[in-house]
Amino acid sequence: EDMEKGTYAHYMLKEIDEQPAVMRRLIQRYSDDQNHLKVDAKIVEELIASERVYIVACGTSWHAGWVGKQLLEQLVEIPVEVHLASEFGYNMPILAKKPFFIFLSQSGETADSRQVLVKINHLGHPSLTLTNVPGSTLSREAKHTLLLHAGPEIAVASTKAYTAQIAVLAILAKVAGEGRGLEKAKVFDLIHQLGLVANGMDVLINEKEAMAKLVEESLSTTRNAFYIGRGVDYYVSMEASLKLKEISYIQAEGFAAGELKHGTIALVEEGTPVFGIITDLVMGSHTRGNLKEVESRGANTIVIAMEGFERSGDAIILPQVDTLLSPLVSVIPTQLIAYFASLQRGLDVDKPRNLAKSVTVE
Ligand code: G6P
Repeated sequence: EDMEKGTYAHYMLKEIDEQPAVMRRLIQRYSDDQNHLKVDAKIVEELIASERVYIVACGTSWHAGWVGKQLLEQLVEIPVEVHLASEFGYNMPILAKKPFFIFLSQSGETADSRQVLVKINHLGHPSLTLTNVPGSTLSREAKHTLLLHAGPEIAVASTKAYTAQIAVLAILAKVAGEGRGLEKAKVFDLIHQLGLVANGMDVLINEKEAMAKLVEESLSTTRNAFYIGRGVDYYVSMEASLKLKEISYIQAEGFAAGELKHGTIALVEEGTPVFGIITDLVMGSHTRGNLKEVESRGANTIVIAMEGFERSGDAIILPQVDTLLSPLVSVIPTQLIAYFASLQRGLDVDKPRNLAKSVTVE
């Protein structure tokens, strides 16, 4: 049934809409009968026995990995490195003595990620794959698997797998942090917080008309665009711009807000759309400063801000959720922006040119 488009014009829109249900499903799938989040004890043991976690992935999954780094470092207090699979295997950094590897792969079939796993297995290091496809290659070949339970993702541009990866990483971080006896993990009521995330997603996916209008006003003729933010808002900016590139063919960059002025701001012209993502007070006020800088150079700035940190004139207000989980809601409008930009340009939303759903060559 998940494979059917039903009344939807495109799989991508259906998959965007499914995200609140995926969040609620994950709460169920990863809860025990006492309503506590649980993850296979072996995985948790090996993770917390490690000195350093290495997250390896490609594309959208790599972007989810950056958010995962934040979650694991905050809740488990173990250092985390995030690597592009295509770079890591052939240019391996000096590893910690006790590393733990997490492979993120929606399909579980990406060749770039698999070549790393083969090397890691050869070295005898423990590994975990987070994937949407049970029985996939990366699932079979890693020591452990956690499933994303997102249902089949058909559109080439990944949406619900990204948010599912972040949610599963949050669950893993919460349970592992508890396993280490860390107070911050114990008091983090993730079941409740993921419920709030699902509700927040519902609010945003009901704002499609406003999103379509925003796209018509800001992206209809442009050839390039920027997303900027700091911290996790930067990580979401990278994903937001990838989504826009993939299906609307608008050249987009996700940039660390503070770094723009050190070179790339030269690309800003009269009317260049610059989206700013703001989900934190202090970092947000700096990002607003950066938005002023580009505005004074003619940019058309569009602010996506979380409730509590918004100012008048902001284009999109995100329902408030725990700051650790903000990417789960801030990414939703950016998925819809990409969708409508593609649609309004008359492009093939679900099957963009030159792209494949999973890439099985290195
Ligand atoms: C392809 C897809 C991307 C995806 C990447 C990694 O390039 O077009 O959307 O993010 O592969 O895929 P994976 O299945 O490993 O998450």
